[in-house]
Formats: sequence, structure tokens, C-alpha cells
Amino acid sequence: MIHARGLVQTFKTRQGREKVEVRAVDGVDLDVEEGEVVGFLGPNGAGKTTTLRMLTTLLRPTEGTATVAGYDVVKQSQDVRRSIGYVSQAGGAYSYARAGDEVVDHGMLYGISKKQATERGHQLFEQLDLPGLWKRTPKQMSGGQKRRLDIVMGLIHDPTLVFLDEPTTGLDPQARANLWEHIADLRRERGATVFLTTHYLDEADVLSDRIMIIDQGRIIASDTSENLKAAISGDQVDLEVADYSRVTDAAAALNSIADSLEVEGHHVRGRVPRAGRAVPGLLRELDRTGITLESIEVHRPTLDDVFLTLTGRSLRDAEAGAESGQPESTEQQPETVGADQ
Ligand SMILES: Nc1ncnc2c1ncn2[C@@H]1O[C@H](COP(=O)(O)OP(=O)(O)OP(=O)(O)O)[C@@H](O)[C@H]1O
Ligand SMILES: [Mg+2]
Repeated sequence: MIHARGLVQTFKTRQGREKVEVRAVDGVDLDVEEGEVVGFLGPNGAGKTTTLRMLTTLLRPTEGTATVAGYDVVKQSQDVRRSIGYVSQAGGAYSYARAGDEVVDHGMLYGISKKQATERGHQLFEQLDLPGLWKRTPKQMSGGQKRRLDIVMGLIHDPTLVFLDEPTTGLDPQARANLWEHIADLRRERGATVFLTTHYLDEADVLSDRIMIIDQGRIIASDTSENLKAAISGDQVDLEVADYSRVTDAAAALNSIADSLEVEGHHVRGRVPRAGRAVPGLLRELDRTGITLESIEVHRPTLDDVFLTLTGRSLRDAEAGAESGQPESTEQQPETVGADQ
């Protein structure tokens, strides 16, 4: 359904006075089969949106080729656009029209009848928990409601291939859960293929058949969440030591059973094979040497641990530390597929 080879996107940006070239996407190959739900993960600035914008024809690849739904993203961009639904990270640009009218117009742009668009629109408003908002203008909606309206727009023409760029950012837990259910239904009932980016690791975990991790413009892993986690051995043990002066002693104790060790403030963390067996002995040892713990946590590997193992950085730290140059505008085409033609 999606096949890309050697996709590259470079942007010219300024850093202070100097002009630099950012290789936002640096040689991406990817294959997504029909009916797959793929979660595209990576820290801020990794190249997720840029990849999506190339696949949805909004940005012409600097190098490389891609076909989406059987069409070439450069030579057959109109066919690609007709075959997909896309919800951009930024959301759509709204007119002052009422939400329902805008949704219906949007559907009609994709060639479905007014009657169909109205029916389907009402159904989506219901499913995404926007009842009663059909006649409101987006200006009168909350951020989360607008985000859900973006999603309605992306799905109005019943696409069987959907690109969602952080669809749940800004949604409350209830709305997120609704959307998850909707995405699961899309696949189950319609065999839809879904390619989504998210910062919520639990979300990627629950929804995706396969996880792709991108870092600094390159795909560094692509497998099921289970397989990715299985490649990491051991559980994460996190000790919070009450008395700061005993942190070093606690670290030494943990080190005797752990494969890796990290100290941060009052916390001592390590990856411990078969923690269930090893931890009781550790606790006895700490007790014997008079080290008091504020807390102890043991957890199975997560996708964040996968990222940490692959890159030496935590996905969360990578995000906190992410920085980017001041972009010069290199926009080539408008941001919404279909909406403004
Ligand atoms: N129009 C642009 N002009 C210049 N640089 C850009 C432009 N768009 C993106 N970049 C740069 O390309 C890199 C990748 O950006 P991209 O938006 O693809 O990241 P992302 O993975 O979607 O991040 P986020 O999680 O923050 O949405 C970043 O360094 C970004 O600053
Ligand atoms: Mg993005």
C-alpha cells in the first residue's frame, strides 16, 4: 500500500547568520501492507511529519521514490490524493462556516454526494463525540473539539488509506479512547490501512500492528512492539533512596544484580534480568545495610526502553532536548489535501 525507497528531504535553514542544510529525512525505505496499522514513532524533529508530507504529496521528495495506493507521489499526485485521508499535525485552516457544512463540502470535494457526506458526517460526529456541534463554527469549539473535527474531515470520504499525524495530541483520555476505537474499527470493518504518528507510546503499543521508529531522519527499527521489546532483556528497576548520602551504596547493591546502571538524584536505576527473583535479595541487602527506600518500581520493557537501547537516549529526553533551526519557508504546496482545490 505504501512503498518508499531512499526518500530524502533537505531544507535550507538559518542558524544565526549561517545558512545550513537540514537533512530532515535521510534515506527512508518503508513498506506498509494493505490493512496494516503502523505507528510511526520518534522524538521531536525526527522527520515524521516531513515523511508524511512527502507520502501525501504535500512535499516533493528531494531524492528517492514512493508509491502510495499504487500511484507515484510525484507523477500521479492527484491519484494519490484521491486515494487517501490525511489529518495533518497542524490541523486544517478553517473558514467561518459551520462545522457540518464544512465537513459536507470537504466530502463533496472528494466526489461523494451531498446526501452521503451528510449521513457520514453525522455518523462521524457521533462516533467522535461531537454531537450537537454540527452547526457551530470551529471558532466556537475547544482545542480538543477542533482536533476531532480535523479527524472527521480526514475520514469523511471513507478512505481506505489514512495518514494521521499525531491525531490524539490535545485530546482528553475519553476522546483518545474513542479515537482508538474508531481506528480499530476502520481496520476491522473496512480493512483500512492506517499510518499514524504519535508521541504516546502506550497508544502506539495498543493500536499498531507494527512500530517504526525514526531518529534523525532515518528508520532505526521496524517490527511488532512485542518483538522490539523482546529484543531487550531484563526489567527496569528504579530505587528511590531516602537518604541522599546512601545513593552510592544503593547503586553498588543494585549493580551486583543489574546489567546497566544509572544514577540521577535520589534515583538509582538498572536493568535486571529476572527481576522477580533478584529483587527480594536486593531488598534484604539494603535492609541489612540500613538503606531506606522512599519507593521501588519494577517495570517490564516499554517502547521508550527500546528507543533508549537503540539510541542511548530516552525518547522523552530526546524530545526535551530537541532543537531545530529557524526554518525559512520552503513550502511547495498547500497543507490540506483536497480541501483547497
Ligand atoms: N519547512 C521547513 N523548513 C526548514 N526546516 C524544516 C521544515 N520542516 C521541518 N523542518 C526541520 O526538519 C526536521 C524534521 O521535522 P519534522 O517536522 O518532520 O519532525 P517531526 O518528527 O514531525 O517532529 P514533531 O514530533 O515535533 O512533530 C526538523 O529539524 C525541522 O526543524
Ligand atoms: Mg511532526
